Amino acid sequence: MNGQAFTVHAPGRVNLIGDHTDYAGGLALPCAIDLGISISGTHEQGRVELSSDALADTVTFDLDPAVNIALIEPQWGRYVAAVAVEVNAAQGFTASATSTLPTGAGLSSSAALEIAVALSFGFSGSPMELALLGQRAELRAVGVPCGLLDQLSIVFGRAENAMVIDFADNAIEYVAFPNDLDIVILHSGQERQLADSEYAERRASCELAAKQIGPLAQASLTDVATLEGDLQRRARHVATECERVRNAATALRNNDPITVGDLMTQSHASLRDDFNVSTSVLDELVERLNTLSGVYGARLTGAGFGGCVVALCERGAINEPAALTGRGWIVRPSDGARQRAI
Ligand code: GLA
Repeated sequence: MNGQAFTVHAPGRVNLIGDHTDYAGGLALPCAIDLGISISGTHEQGRVELSSDALADTVTFDLDPAVNIALIEPQWGRYVAAVAVEVNAAQGFTASATSTLPTGAGLSSSAALEIAVALSFGFSGSPMELALLGQRAELRAVGVPCGLLDQLSIVFGRAENAMVIDFADNAIEYVAFPNDLDIVILHSGQERQLADSEYAERRASCELAAKQIGPLAQASLTDVATLEGDLQRRARHVATECERVRNAATALRNNDPITVGDLMTQSHASLRDDFNVSTSVLDELVERLNTLSGVYGARLTGAGFGGCVVALCERGAINEPAALTGRGWIVRPSDGARQRAI
């Protein structure tokens, strides 16, 4: 309704293990986190005006299904306009966003923005439709052919739970996250630009490999060995990463953080050596974290090429994560996105 006030919130997510598996129909173990984006404002017919405390310049445009998204400035407005097209919005809003989520850090700030914006438009479909809409908006806005990891984590997150997502059918199983563990996130200082990265190339390699040996999530190492060069290494990452997610989920259920941590560190090595999405800064950070007492394991999280590392720690092992690299957080698994009319 015109003039109606609203407020919405979308959390970011951290992926504990299982990266570059979603678009290959594999497995991941993420959770929504208590850093996120909130938008408050009032509905307004036909136009959008959105400012943000984290992003420069106000986004303003008239709602038009034929809008040329590539021309929208500032650039973050392209996410907003892409969501408007996906929602087929007639009613817009004047609103402001506040964010505690670092951008370009592998914690899904763009997906959180897309989901929060869809809710601001009054999106009223099912949670699964909301997640799929966010994925389509990402492609429309910046051309990134992402999987569903970010959007499913953000929409379906549950406080104090991690979630095992099987991307073969998008089934979600919650796993209680133990109270005596901390999830510590450290920013490497390297900004990650997913659109500029080799993300699409990695996805294409996985698709090519799957054409030759079938779904990578189920591939055996014997199947993988029939591939050559880079293709073999990409496929080996996906196949072994899915196995690590299965084992990490079992270990988390059994309250065995030592095994979860070991698997996280193995996952980092696979992302570094087989998938080639790490950087020397991320590698050094993981190594450094693993020398600290009370740290069970660490890995890059998200797409890689910079951004953040995540560590699983004994509660209180790292009290001031920001002291380690300048930017760091202790996060708790949190509820998914929500909207509230005022
Ligand atoms: C980005 C994408 C996700 C996923 C991760 C890597 O966050 O948006 O779909 O592929 O990278 O796991």
